[in-house]
Amino acid sequence: MAEPRTSIYLDSCATAPPRSGVVDEIVRAHATAWGNPSSLHQPGLDAADLLERSRLRVASALNANPDDVIVTSGATESVHLALGGMALSRPPGRVVISAVEHPAVTAAAQQLKAQGWELQTWPVDGLGRIRLDCLESLLAPPTVLVSLIWGQSEVGTLQPIHTVGLACQQRGIPFHVDATQVLSQGCPDWAKLPVDLLSASSHKFGGPKGVGLLLARSALRRRLGPLLGGGGQEQGLRAGTQPVPLVAGMAAALEQSPRWTPADWSKETQDPLPAIAVLRDQWMEGLLEDPRLQLTGDPRWRLPHHISVLVSDHNGQPLSGRALVRELARRGIAVSSGSACSSGKDTGSPVLAAMQVAPSLQRSGLRLSLGSWVSPQHFPPLREALDQALAAVSEAS
Ligand SMILES: Cc1ncc(COP(=O)(O)O)c(C=O)c1O
Repeated sequence: MAEPRTSIYLDSCATAPPRSGVVDEIVRAHATAWGNPSSLHQPGLDAADLLERSRLRVASALNANPDDVIVTSGATESVHLALGGMALSRPPGRVVISAVEHPAVTAAAQQLKAQGWELQTWPVDGLGRIRLDCLESLLAPPTVLVSLIWGQSEVGTLQPIHTVGLACQQRGIPFHVDATQVLSQGCPDWAKLPVDLLSASSHKFGGPKGVGLLLARSALRRRLGPLLGGGGQEQGLRAGTQPVPLVAGMAAALEQSPRWTPADWSKETQDPLPAIAVLRDQWMEGLLEDPRLQLTGDPRWRLPHHISVLVSDHNGQPLSGRALVRELARRGIAVSSGSACSSGKDTGSPVLAAMQVAPSLQRSGLRLSLGSWVSPQHFPPLREALDQALAAVSEAS
């Protein structure tokens, strides 16, 4: 493997390095199971066998039925299949999404709107948590579909998906959850989750890029239409030859996530957090001693590897998060100013806007997302690089 040019990688919410054994599994599968899994000869049967064994491994990691696992190209596609696929099987109704969704969900919901659906946004409080006082009105008719981001990528806040899921169940409303940032930290128990559809991307949990999954319960699978037509793969829900080596790599990666289901802040009980949260909390405390950094998102109910702050100078003037990312990159530290997908643009963050962050600070977000490769000894060099980067950006602005 090439020597990384970055000495401290703190951007696992954008993508995570391959977990142990993942690359070997992909290479082995490419060499031994290269056939088309739909073919009836031996190379095809070998590929189909590996595909189904990998599906089984993914399903067991999540305590799901293998038939519930639909292989996609990643979370963006899964989300579109969940929302767009539901829209294919029923007349337009009202879809509810939170104000802090990833752009993939917002775009999929906008597509429904273009088809005549009503699109309603679930407002959030200053910590990025959906306002539960809106639950009754938002789940009342004509709502027929709800989609929520479980762990917010930019500010780390976890949503009370159990509470919302149970409320949707009582009303017979299909509930989709974007779990893309949660699965890297732990595999929820699908059998116990009050969720009908769940999306994720393999590369966020240390698997390969170009593959992801949609979990869909059998009753919902019957109500989903395919967005891609063709060979009828994946129970007719997602045509196209399955990338068997990538699915094998996804399975190898997911198996390494511990079993962990984020608890609901609305219930005030909490499973023990994954070990990485201890380190994250120490770092967060250390960083927040600096008055130039101000935490965003929920301090307690947040992704266990996630730190996000707003940055300003010693006079309280907001600094550009993107400029800081560049200064830190020069010093060998990889972080992000928000979600990866919007990191190429210097527009204010819609997530921070939804959380009522002052407009002047909406370009000042900085995100550090940790992983198992990070240890306490990385903190002093990070702190030093951050001090230098803050000074450089303050001077330039
Ligand atoms: C919460 C969330 N949903 C969806 C996505 C889209 O994932 P992908 O780009 O792998 O399709 C991301 C990626 O950052 C994400 O963080």
